[in-house]
Amino acid sequence: MADKNEWGSNLSFILAMIGSAVGLGNIWRYPYVLYSNGGGAFYIPYIVAILLMGIPFLILEYGVGYNFKSSFAKAVKRINSKWEYLGWFLPVAVFMIMIYYSAILGWDGIYMILSFFKGWGADPNTYFTATLLQSSESMNGMFHFIPLIAVAMLVGWVIIWFISHRDLEAGLGKVSKILVPALFIIMVIIVGFSLTLPGASIGLAELFHPDWSLLGKFEIWMAAFGQIVFSLSLGMSIAFTYASYTKDDSDLITNTISIALANSLFENFAALGVFSILGYMSLQSGTAVSDLVTQGTGLVFIVYPTVFNVLGQWAYVLGPLFFLTVYLAGLTSILSTIEPLSFSIQNKFALSRKRTMTILIIVGAAVSMIYATAYGSSILGFVDTFINQIAILFGVIMECIIFAWIFKADKLVDFLNSRSKTIKLGKWWIVVVKYILPIFVAIVWIGGMIDVIKVGTNDQLIFTLVSAIILIVATLIFTLLPAKNPEWENADERV
Ligand code: PFF
Repeated sequence: MADKNEWGSNLSFILAMIGSAVGLGNIWRYPYVLYSNGGGAFYIPYIVAILLMGIPFLILEYGVGYNFKSSFAKAVKRINSKWEYLGWFLPVAVFMIMIYYSAILGWDGIYMILSFFKGWGADPNTYFTATLLQSSESMNGMFHFIPLIAVAMLVGWVIIWFISHRDLEAGLGKVSKILVPALFIIMVIIVGFSLTLPGASIGLAELFHPDWSLLGKFEIWMAAFGQIVFSLSLGMSIAFTYASYTKDDSDLITNTISIALANSLFENFAALGVFSILGYMSLQSGTAVSDLVTQGTGLVFIVYPTVFNVLGQWAYVLGPLFFLTVYLAGLTSILSTIEPLSFSIQNKFALSRKRTMTILIIVGAAVSMIYATAYGSSILGFVDTFINQIAILFGVIMECIIFAWIFKADKLVDFLNSRSKTIKLGKWWIVVVKYILPIFVAIVWIGGMIDVIKVGTNDQLIFTLVSAIILIVATLIFTLLPAKNPEWENADERV
């Protein structure tokens, strides 16, 4: 019998990891990043980023997680007890992602229903911003509650609770084995259909048309590294936690390569689908692809409904399938965002998985209601920028220092190699994780901060500050509360 916090099989681990990696970033972010950073030429920095950062860093995070077989906070405390707060910082930051991700999931749930009767009407832009979100530019919008969004979000929280409060394999393991393959199959159907649409080739030619001149530009290299951090959920303590749940005989290097490959395959596939659809739309409407292309909520909730409006009967099949894909991708990612904090709390305060999950989900659902207001989508943008561009990258740099330098990544090499049936790690890996990675991430981090300060409005700065205070205070509370578990001080090591 698997322990409450142990995968039943290696397959559950890999599929849950792929579920976490494959998310909204693959569907709504990557196609745009590829297009706006040199098209076909972007593949060079992209592949370099995967080989130089994605895979080496995942191996580090998995390796250390596997070694400790305990939560992130507990392992960091064990590595250096003065640094326990760094062990809480990332899990709390990732839990903050969970809270706003639930709003996007809620919006998508509403669109899934609307897509059966094109309920967004003739003007999807007005529907999304004015009718559904009732978006307000003013902070007073926080006091204008939108019940429909709240209900949709709460449905998501109930689904999350239903899966997460069970033992790991009975909940997340089992669900990943069903939902992740389902996600890939539905995606193949959607993309296959999109490729047959008239005009698809116009979109694809536009997407892949390589602009080699951009290769010399710093920004496209940064875009590639930023995309890989986000898309593979690097350094978020998720990979660490998932690896700590594995059994003793896992081949972590081969697993890492499979996960990185599956993630890239999915996002490149998504790009084919998105640009075929944009090519079709361009042909129908006479608008250039470059004027249609966008990312984020604009792509999913405005451009896609606009396309479905001109697609005729097929839209009633493609629409629900598309919003279902986004829902599944979002759900399998959001399920991973609660694990690091939950496991850390279970370890320190000797609470059961069931009880910890239930408490965290109630707190998360209550706080998330701030996003069910007319100012919610603006707050979501501010918090997302803060967490992704500032907080997480800071955590990633710290994680590199703690794992590669203080824990000494060198210790893991022999052990990881002895299990690996494919690639063996050499000296190059140590150089990458100790030097190249932290330096690159630090550059991306500084770039992101300058961006926020330069282009940030007053409201954005206020919410950045509030989010930072919440993150720091919550981190301190978890660190300072006395441990209830006598085992908190000892973490067993497997290597
Ligand atoms: N990797 C996910 C994506 O590409 O959409 C996003 C994500 C999931 C970010 C989980 C953060 C996280 F904790």
